[in-house]
Amino acid sequence: MALSASTPVAPELVAELERLKRDRDAVVLAHYYVAPEIQAVADYVGDSFALAKLAVSLPQQTLVIAGVAFMGESMKLLNPRKTVLLPNPQADCPMAHMVSRGMVDALRAVYGDDLAVVCYVNSTAAVKSWSDVCVTSSNAVQIVRSLPQRHVLFIPDQNLGGYVAAQVPEKNVILNDGCCPHHHAVTPDEVAALKAAHPGALVLAHPECTDLVLKQADYVGSTAGIIAFAEKSDAEEFIVVTMRGVEAELEKRCNGAVLAGEKGAAACAAAAPRKRFYFAEHSVCPDMASITLEQVVSCLRDPAPEQQVDVPGEFTEPAKRMLDRMLELAGK
Ligand code: 13P
Ligand code: SF4
Repeated sequence: MALSASTPVAPELVAELERLKRDRDAVVLAHYYVAPEIQAVADYVGDSFALAKLAVSLPQQTLVIAGVAFMGESMKLLNPRKTVLLPNPQADCPMAHMVSRGMVDALRAVYGDDLAVVCYVNSTAAVKSWSDVCVTSSNAVQIVRSLPQRHVLFIPDQNLGGYVAAQVPEKNVILNDGCCPHHHAVTPDEVAALKAAHPGALVLAHPECTDLVLKQADYVGSTAGIIAFAEKSDAEEFIVVTMRGVEAELEKRCNGAVLAGEKGAAACAAAAPRKRFYFAEHSVCPDMASITLEQVVSCLRDPAPEQQVDVPGEFTEPAKRMLDRMLELAGK
């Protein structure tokens, strides 16, 4: 679904959501890539690390995760006694599956105890359970640097792994061949063309992009990092090389506009935006964008069995340990 300033939000749906949240002691957490009308009604919107941190501190009994399947799994692992609901269980991150157990085992056999298997949080619970620690894009460099092992197998994302390797040259970082198909598809030429069209713009890129794209960036960071950078920066134009979902928060924080509903559309039209954002073509995560507000409401109204997150027992303990270790190493 394309993100637009005029996406209509049914007020009766929002009213029902508020009532259901009260009745079910629920809270809605959304990732920056989901549709703006969901971000607008969520209680919290954040990057993967912020959402994971939040999940362990919230008092509510029911957590609705407007995000892809691995995010729901992570929330359930961190909160085994809570009800975790995924509005659209079909929304899945393809990269979360792009690694084989055989490869991990083979490298463990080669390097023994001097190998740490570092798993990007964009991974299934099974993949996490084969690892030694989890990371997100906002803490990967810090955590890899702090590990005692000299050799690091970074799974599943080759691009984030390559970025970490460049920042932590003292480690031998071994890469896997997984990637985010949408970040990986942005070409260096596309970024160069955007730079030529907007010569004053700063390039802000997510580390899931290829190294040739990252070489052109003025700032590399997680979705939250990109938003915070743009908010603080004195620059007025930014080429944002990540998924377009971040535009809602960028507009809100930098220009005071709300990209959802008619009120938001009017506000956008009325305000003369001080900061402008340019994106590469096709910068939409189709899985994140497939989540609808109706699904957010329906999973609270009458949750279907597949909307209720359950992590297969055999992976629960080890996968939870990886997330707990991440929170410990990155500092809660
Ligand atoms: P962030 O942790 O930066 O929000 O990234 C999540 C993600 O899926 C990027 O594609
Ligand atoms: Fe996965 Fe890429 Fe979508 Fe992020 S943008 S959830 S890495 S497919």
